[in-house]
Amino acid sequence: MSDSKARQIDPAPKHDDRADHNLRPQKLDEMIGQDQVKENLAILISAAHKRKEALDHVLFYGPPGLGKTTLAHVVANEMGVNIKVTSGPAIERAGDLAAILTNLREGDILFIDEVHRLGRIVEEVLYPAMEEFALDIVIGKGPSARSIRLKLPRFTVIGATTRLALITAPLRARFGAVYRLDYYDLPAMQKVVTRAGRILDVHVEQNGVEEIARRSRGTPRVALRLLRRVRDFAQVRADGSVTSRIAMEALDLLQVDALGLDDVDRRVLKTIIEKYNGGPVGLNTIAASISEEQDTIMDVVEPYLLQLGFLDRTPQGRVATKSAYDHLGMPYQEGVQPKLI
Ligand SMILES: Nc1ncnc2c1ncn2[C@@H]1O[C@H](COP(=O)(O)OP(=O)(O)OP(=O)(O)O)[C@@H](O)[C@H]1O
Ligand SMILES: [Mg+2]
Repeated sequence: MSDSKARQIDPAPKHDDRADHNLRPQKLDEMIGQDQVKENLAILISAAHKRKEALDHVLFYGPPGLGKTTLAHVVANEMGVNIKVTSGPAIERAGDLAAILTNLREGDILFIDEVHRLGRIVEEVLYPAMEEFALDIVIGKGPSARSIRLKLPRFTVIGATTRLALITAPLRARFGAVYRLDYYDLPAMQKVVTRAGRILDVHVEQNGVEEIARRSRGTPRVALRLLRRVRDFAQVRADGSVTSRIAMEALDLLQVDALGLDDVDRRVLKTIIEKYNGGPVGLNTIAASISEEQDTIMDVVEPYLLQLGFLDRTPQGRVATKSAYDHLGMPYQEGVQPKLI
């Protein structure tokens, strides 16, 4: 694994998540939005309860900050079992995984974040563990080496990833339930902001809720971060209440625009438009031009721009759409920009 991969993205928001532990929904019915995922999970959980079995292995995927980690904890709470938390890059050697697996108890959940970053050898130990609840251990070296099989308790792996495509086919096949988390719609985002305002004890007027929700790019983590920054602004520049005017001023100052695009999003679009005449241009070229990590662009920036219809992916590279030009107030000339394929 390269250094730049290990350094991964967006440390600040995750830090904020930890700071507000009680903002995390604990039960399925406290979880806002994602109705289809919740309904499917509720069935999965109550069927496992009825049969008194461990839950089947579950994989959550989707852009950062939508609730994958939260859901893993919610599932553990609903099942009433322990959850052990680790991540793909943290399990360096097969022995690390073996140590974790042999410490699990019947029904426990092993949550593996960034599961697409598990090493090959570690993955190969995981396959029989997930499928047959067995661990093959080689004892000794050379001609006298022999392999013994340890039985493991029936446990559940919950995997989370922002990159489904990077998960190997054999690993993916071992998850009995695979759920995609999508960006939240506006009403759901408003509920997220209202709930967080209540828990953080900030008075937020309905117009203020709407303003923050609209600019949070359909992502609860972003909504919680913006709410905190707006709260700071309200306390320093006003009487602490968040009105729509206060929310607007604070968010403008943070350079979060009306659709939730921030400085990095805009720099990505402007680079494609100004330097590469609208594209197509490769992701690595864009990343180098604006000195951002390619991972940040792929995980955080691109999915939202694609969702807004501001960006298209073609085999030749990324292309800015007419809507992107319009949003940035840049002139779009038909025919000058390359044709989309
Ligand atoms: N449905 C929801 N309702 C209320 N709050 C939520 C919801 N989903 C997520 N959150 C909040 O958003 C924050 C981010 O969620 P979480 O850490 O679960 O995202 P994630 O998908 O695991 O992100 P990453 O891919 O970066 O690991 C958490 O602080 C959580 O409290
Ligand atoms: Mg997470």
